[in-house]
Amino acid sequence: MNINENYSNLEQSYLFSTIAKKVKEFSENNPYKKIIRLGIGDVTLPLCKCVTDAMHKAVDEMGVQETFRGYGPEQGYQFVSSAVQSYYAKRGVTLELDEIFISDGAKSDLGNILDLFSKDNTVLVPDPVYPVYVDTNIMAGRKVIFADANGENEFLPMPDNNVKADLIYICSPNNPTGAVYNKEQLKKWVDYALSNNAVILFDAAYESFISDENLPRSIYEIEGAKNCAIEFCSLSKTAGFTGTRCGYTIVPAALGALNKYWLRRQTTKFNGVPYIIQRGAEAVFTEQGQKEIKENIAYYKENAKVISETLTRLGIWHVGGKHSPYIWLKCPNNMSSWDFFDYLLENAQVVGTPGAGFGKNGEGYFRLTSFGSKENTIEAMERFKKLFK
Ligand code: MLT
Repeated sequence: MNINENYSNLEQSYLFSTIAKKVKEFSENNPYKKIIRLGIGDVTLPLCKCVTDAMHKAVDEMGVQETFRGYGPEQGYQFVSSAVQSYYAKRGVTLELDEIFISDGAKSDLGNILDLFSKDNTVLVPDPVYPVYVDTNIMAGRKVIFADANGENEFLPMPDNNVKADLIYICSPNNPTGAVYNKEQLKKWVDYALSNNAVILFDAAYESFISDENLPRSIYEIEGAKNCAIEFCSLSKTAGFTGTRCGYTIVPAALGALNKYWLRRQTTKFNGVPYIIQRGAEAVFTEQGQKEIKENIAYYKENAKVISETLTRLGIWHVGGKHSPYIWLKCPNNMSSWDFFDYLLENAQVVGTPGAGFGKNGEGYFRLTSFGSKENTIEAMERFKKLFK
């Protein structure tokens, strides 16, 4: 047998696993110090009541002969696809049910979708970037090129007609920087993709954090996007499903074979999201569900405000936090990202994510998440004030 040697081209461990290992070591050596985790974007508020109510009901159904369900449709039950369809319709985006695929989250689908593309494709990713886009392509041996995101372009790189790419990753609101493309900017990417016969893989996992109605939450709000874009979304950050696992991927029929092949791929390699979870997902899209998740998002946004106000007061340059749960800051005193990570852990027991973990342009930056509890966020910022006054 021959092993897939592309794996040897990856960083030794996944960014968030490296961080978890470092934090575990610190905690074992300092058992009495309270660590505040604002690193990985994991939610802390529990699932909404209407979601758990729906799941309880589904559990009961599973225990009764008449309502028990075994294998479901691999692409998801229609009751969830219909809920997603209505959710998009409210924003003026019309989707057919067979363009909507229910999944166990955006991370897996963003990796799995690559099954549909030839290894010869050149992949364009912004830098800094969510490491999954890069790592999954390295695993497949694809050529990855980067679009520089930096202070000069406000972390929103634009297409360069001299660069030829076949697959383009866009995440807006962006992980890690929190930057959001407006419609005019996204239109330029759509036009670039159309003229290069490229496909945009649009990660909309943070769309529900957008508070400005004029900003696009879906790439399909842009004319022409259905002819060149696949959209990935997740209930992880929107509705606290990080541990529950449910998301959806839109593969427009206009993409022809890609829609058919994705169904073929999913029916072969995936057995669908559990019925109980899909009932919980359905509840997210009800009127009550939307009301309850918005309260949670408002809570996280309040945390982002606390972080942002503290950093402003301390004169620490930062962006994000407004339409996103992430705050992207410049490491004080020109520290490198990992030095700052160690310094903060050692001196304030606050965990963040080193910007360098997201790419070379992330060096010298650091990401904090607003997904902590209010009390911990306030305490973390009090520790910042002591450290950087
Ligand atoms: C992050 O912290 O970047 C995210 O939580 C990672 C993810 O969604 O997989």
